[in-house]
Amino acid sequence: MDLAFDRRHIWHPYTSTLTPLTCYPVRAAHGVELELEDGTKLVDGMSSWWSTIHGYNHPHLNQAAHNQIDQVSHVMFGGITHTPAIELCKKLLAFAPDNLEHVFLADSGSVAVEVSLKMALQYWHAKGEKRPKFLTLRDGYHGDTFAAMSVTDPDNSMHSLYKGFLPEHIFAASPKTGYWQEWDEKDLDDFKAKLEQHHDEIAAVILEPIVQGAGGMRIYHPRFLQGVRSLCDQYGILLILDEIATGFGRTGKMFACEHASIQPDILCVGKALTGGYMTLSATLASKQVADTVCGGEAGCFMHGPTFMGNPLACAVATASMELLATNQWQTQTQQIETTFSRLLPELTAHPLVADVRWLGAIGVVETHKPVNMEVIQALFVEKGVWIRPFGKLIYMMPPYISSEENIKQLVQAIEAALKQSECFIN
Ligand SMILES: Cc1ncc(COP(=O)(O)O)c(C=O)c1O
Repeated sequence: MDLAFDRRHIWHPYTSTLTPLTCYPVRAAHGVELELEDGTKLVDGMSSWWSTIHGYNHPHLNQAAHNQIDQVSHVMFGGITHTPAIELCKKLLAFAPDNLEHVFLADSGSVAVEVSLKMALQYWHAKGEKRPKFLTLRDGYHGDTFAAMSVTDPDNSMHSLYKGFLPEHIFAASPKTGYWQEWDEKDLDDFKAKLEQHHDEIAAVILEPIVQGAGGMRIYHPRFLQGVRSLCDQYGILLILDEIATGFGRTGKMFACEHASIQPDILCVGKALTGGYMTLSATLASKQVADTVCGGEAGCFMHGPTFMGNPLACAVATASMELLATNQWQTQTQQIETTFSRLLPELTAHPLVADVRWLGAIGVVETHKPVNMEVIQALFVEKGVWIRPFGKLIYMMPPYISSEENIKQLVQAIEAALKQSECFIN
């Protein structure tokens, strides 16, 4: 592999062209393992940014891709439809909260979020009301495109870089009560206050239910979400749930909103939708939202990407839904959660550890010092695992098929890193 070319010319996510960090060359991947160019095998603790829930090179997903590519890999979605999209949307609606009736297929998570925000804006426009603002939470993450970024934590995403261009929305304090802690009603105070103050200019609330992912890996109490739903109802404001990271079983429920027994008006999914095989996302809406949007001045929802409803991606996503329908994910994520709950508390004895938390197939170790990425990454590879931390967060979101041994190996590698001061920045 021409790594010198890669280093010189290829921009990797969130990396510098001046001082590029090491990139590890992957030549294949099977089950829970990534295989490097030199034959080294790494147990994957990241599911390729939380998407490959069934593991790599899954025969059922491979077959679906092969079958579809022999039929048609892409065709425009305007004025044309096809079985892969129809089958996928049928299965998606069957899994989704039952008030959601319409599916808009899009390309990536960020685009699904853009679509959800546009839906909310068109909804209020159709009702003849001007509502240009969104209410969201601190420590959230919704993607890297402009509108998605505008509802992402302003400090984490460095809003200051885009000042004057990025729309300014309203941020309420993120929930403090953890999932397993006793609920503290005060957690909702700031959200309530912001809603009271701004409700007549807010189009929708958007947030990540139960787990705030890339903005801080925070796992919060279901009562917060219940409070948000009833406040949105009280003020007649739409609720958008971004389940791009949490959807399809990651938290131990098919969708994280099920922990709180609530339903959104609009739901965004992506990442694991295709079992991590390719990029595809969807924004689901209630009939009331869809009908209102389409009853407005434009007469339709104003969005239509070139690769919308890509048949290849839809066919693989359908196959992933078929795997989920066997319900094995429930036992698998439960077992992973049990293993995390046994192993992670042991790490709190280490002075560098600020907190550990877990839910479903998510395990987080928060440290007092930020990691030294280059050093810690090399150590993880030496220990035979793939974990990619950020800041003070070393987290695992392994494929659901990971065995107890796999999880132990991941946690042991983190333990080894905690013992090496070079892995952290002072
Ligand atoms: C909750 C959430 N929303 C949106 C996104 C953006 O998705 P994508 O990277 O596919 O654009 C992410 C990605 O990490 C996410 O975690």
